Parts: sequence; C-alpha cells; structure tokens
Amino acid sequence: MVSAQETERRRVAGDVHDGPIQMLAAAVLRLSSIRHDIKDPALNARLDEFSSSLTTSIDSLRHLVFELRPPSLDRGGLDVAFRESLEGWAPQENVSVTVTSNLATPLNTEERAVLFRIGQEALANARKHARARSISVSLQEVGGGILLNVADDGVGFTDGPSATDAALHIGLTSMRERAEQAGGWLQIDSPGTGTVVKAWIPITRGPELTP
Ligand SMILES: Nc1ncnc2c1ncn2[C@@H]1O[C@H](COP(=O)(O)OP(=O)(O)OP(=O)(O)O)[C@@H](O)[C@H]1O
Ligand SMILES: [Mg+2]
Repeated sequence: MVSAQETERRRVAGDVHDGPIQMLAAAVLRLSSIRHDIKDPALNARLDEFSSSLTTSIDSLRHLVFELRPPSLDRGGLDVAFRESLEGWAPQENVSVTVTSNLATPLNTEERAVLFRIGQEALANARKHARARSISVSLQEVGGGILLNVADDGVGFTDGPSATDAALHIGLTSMRERAEQAGGWLQIDSPGTGTVVKAWIPITRGPELTP
C-alpha cells in the first residue's frame, strides 16, 4: 500500500511539474515579451503585478511538488529530505531547526517513505499548533529499527480538538496508523511545554518493493 501511494504521489508530482508549472513559466515569458512592446508605464506596472502573482503561483506549485515527493528522499536520504522541507518555511518564521541522523543501515523505499510522512505531519503540527521557537528532528538506529524523534519547544497539547471536530483532525491518527502498519509504534509526550513525537519502525532488510 505504501508503495502504491508513493508511486501515485510521484506520478502526480511529475504531472504538476511537467504541466501547470511549465505552462505558467511559459506565460511569464510571454508576458515579459509583451511588456517589452508596451510603453505605457501604468499598464506596465499592472503587467508586473500580474507577472509576480504568476511567479508566486509557480513557487507554491514547486513547493507542492516537493512535498508530494522530495527528490532527496530517493537521492540524499531522510535527513536531507527533512532539512530541505524545513528550509522551505522555518527560517522565514524564525524557527531554528536541527536535524541529526546516525543511520548506518540503508533503508528501503517504503521505510523511508513511512518515516518521512510521519515526520512531515509532526513538523506540520509543530508549525501549525505549537508556536515553537525551535524544532529538532533526529533519526537513530535502535533495537533493529529506526527511531524518529520530532521535538518542539512550543505550547504543548492544550485540550486538543473537541469531540465533535476530532473527526476532522486526522493527522495524529494517520501518523499512528502508518507506524503500526509498518510493524512499529508511535508515542506522543507533551509534558506541559513542548511536544515530543517518537515513531519507531523495524528495518525489514527485505527486498525493495519498488525500484
Ligand atoms: N506539536 C503540537 N503542539 C501543540 N499541539 C499539537 C501539536 N500537535 C498536535 N497538536 C494538537 O492536537 C490536535 C490534533 O492534531 P492532528 O494532527 O490530528 O490534527 P490537525 O493538525 O488539527 O489537523 P490535520 O492534521 O488533520 O490537518 C491539534 O489540533 C492540536 O490541538
Ligand atoms: Mg495535523
């Protein structure tokens, strides 16, 4: 299932990259050549505004493509993927980040994907809910598996969502499900200030399911 999801994400990322992003980039180029022929400064200013809103759209689509399937997840490894993902927002929001890893055993595609998706949700939560000033991510080989630790120094869990809208908040449940489906576990500690999310999955050493 993990393999099918990741393949689909990679396909969607490729389609968004090759379709909408290329079309918008071509539109920006056309706009700049039209602008060249126009002498009216007021009209030019409006075209510049239009062009910069297209550029903003391109940036946000590029970000989406990255989140769907970070190329570094295949090439560089998990720590690189986490670092690149955090670079996309943490510096602008004045959040300091550390990412450490001591993985000796190479992980297969599924293991990398499961840990990255869990970490992605933990980081999204730290960003959305914690008002953290610093976030740390660590990856360690422990007990025949990998322990992912995402800690923030934010407000910690308050009351959480009310029972009525709990169904709308699927992040925690999906992190736990991903870890358990991979044969591991998820634990969340929020001792007043800050939150620590720990996820462990075993290393299967099995063959790669996807090339
Ligand atoms: N790092 C954190 N710091 C503080 N509160 C948190 C943190 N992570 C989760 N929470 C609390 O737990 C609730 C449930 O988190 P969960 O990820 O399930 O839902 P969500 O982030 O609100 O929505 P979704 O993930 O479905 O987009 C959050 O609404 C928030 O109140
Ligand atoms: Mg969430």
